[in-house]
Amino acid sequence: MDNEQIRSRLKASGQDHILDACEKLDPARASSLMEQASRLPLESLPELIERFVCCESGDSSSTDISPPRVTMPDPELAAALTERGEQVIREGRVAAFTVAGGQGTRLGWGGPKGTYPATPVSGKPLFRVFAEQIEAASIAWNTPIRWYIMTSEANDAATRAFFADNNWFGLPRTQIMLFPQGMMPCFDMHKGNVLLEAPDRLAMSPDGHGGSIAALHASGALEEMSVLGIDTISYFQVDNPLSSVIDPMFIGLHADPERSSGEMSSKMVPKRESGEKVGVFCRVGDHTRVIEYSDMPQSLMTEVDDNGRLRYDAGNIAIHLLGVDFARRVFEANELPWHRAVKKVPYFDLETDSQIAPESPNGVKLERFIFDALGLASNPAILEVDRSLEFAPIKNAAGEDSPESCRQAQNDLYGGWLESRGIEVARNEEGHVLADIEISPLSAMGSDDLKSEDLPEAVGSGDRILI
Ligand code: UTP
Repeated sequence: MDNEQIRSRLKASGQDHILDACEKLDPARASSLMEQASRLPLESLPELIERFVCCESGDSSSTDISPPRVTMPDPELAAALTERGEQVIREGRVAAFTVAGGQGTRLGWGGPKGTYPATPVSGKPLFRVFAEQIEAASIAWNTPIRWYIMTSEANDAATRAFFADNNWFGLPRTQIMLFPQGMMPCFDMHKGNVLLEAPDRLAMSPDGHGGSIAALHASGALEEMSVLGIDTISYFQVDNPLSSVIDPMFIGLHADPERSSGEMSSKMVPKRESGEKVGVFCRVGDHTRVIEYSDMPQSLMTEVDDNGRLRYDAGNIAIHLLGVDFARRVFEANELPWHRAVKKVPYFDLETDSQIAPESPNGVKLERFIFDALGLASNPAILEVDRSLEFAPIKNAAGEDSPESCRQAQNDLYGGWLESRGIEVARNEEGHVLADIEISPLSAMGSDDLKSEDLPEAVGSGDRILI
């Protein structure tokens, strides 16, 4: 595309200020800025700006809300689903998919979040935690489980370097595919102008975990999955070391035509209390959706059923299964909505020729969310799981959902495994394990796999146990 074409597209989309910026630059830098501008979705910007940037959009106005259908399998059903799921895994039909393109601003770690040391004793980075699960699952079900990892432009190189430095965590290089997600421009929240990060650079940010659908397509991953006979994507986030990367029971549920269309299935945990800040699964009209904490009407948030249980307690823990054909359909439909996040976005001000670090929010970032794909799925299955076994994300530097709470959750989980094998484990009055305990999936994928010779005699306060 020549500069004249880009010029007229920029004018038509109301982004002429980028042309003004180019005029102040030498030819090489101006051409770089024009090239960045040419990659913007210019034709759709006016509508996006009108709907999401310059106004508060609310797509949660529906009143036809009811609780979703949730599966809580009894032991017999759990065994049948597990058997079905194991068969699907053995046939090589499941791939693991980690979304790791986030900026991790709350944690404030210097590198990609997947490089964060997360385990209580050996301090294994999150990526290794998942790599070991994938290796263990590949051995258990005798099939090389393919691992797809979505990065972002900001952390792609550092993530690749980390994998290379760690020798791909012992997995065959060919088993892993990394690819970056798409980026969206940051906008001035009042004018709708795309902000400049520097005189010759647009301010861009990752397009949300929902961008994974487009990235799976653009990278060729979806195509490759079809060629390899993979029909199920096991989606999880990089920040939760308790994610069961390949869960046969969940996969069996997803693959059971009586309980799911096989398009999209999700795990939920009951909310701790009505005010817990998580999105909840709901039925809205004929569809299952996640309604964000901030969009949930207060009256529904606190409503209880006859047993005193919150009616809307199905908390989203961001663990999903997606059919490969379904993901392709979601990509083609291009209907995932954009969500508006108002942030402080540092920018270069053309009027004063200066770099500005705003003291109050000035910009809008647009993101897509993966759970919005549920609205496009027919008959999604929602599986209730135990939070203490599956969900301990590292989001914040301290307090809730922090490295410390995650460490305690791992100690409590593995302490429970040892107790189930008859080992006494020291706990405090609140029931938390008082030792650091870490069990690699390569040693045991569940308490039943623990070998007697690996078991300690007892676990006392302050002990450090590595199995
Ligand atoms: P979060 O919503 O916790 O965002 O992402 P974040 O960017 O990691 O952290 P903060 O909000 O800046 O502190 C949940 C998951 O979705 C991934 C993250 O890497 C994490 O696994 N994600 C998020 C992406 O892959 N891309 C995105 O654009 C956003």
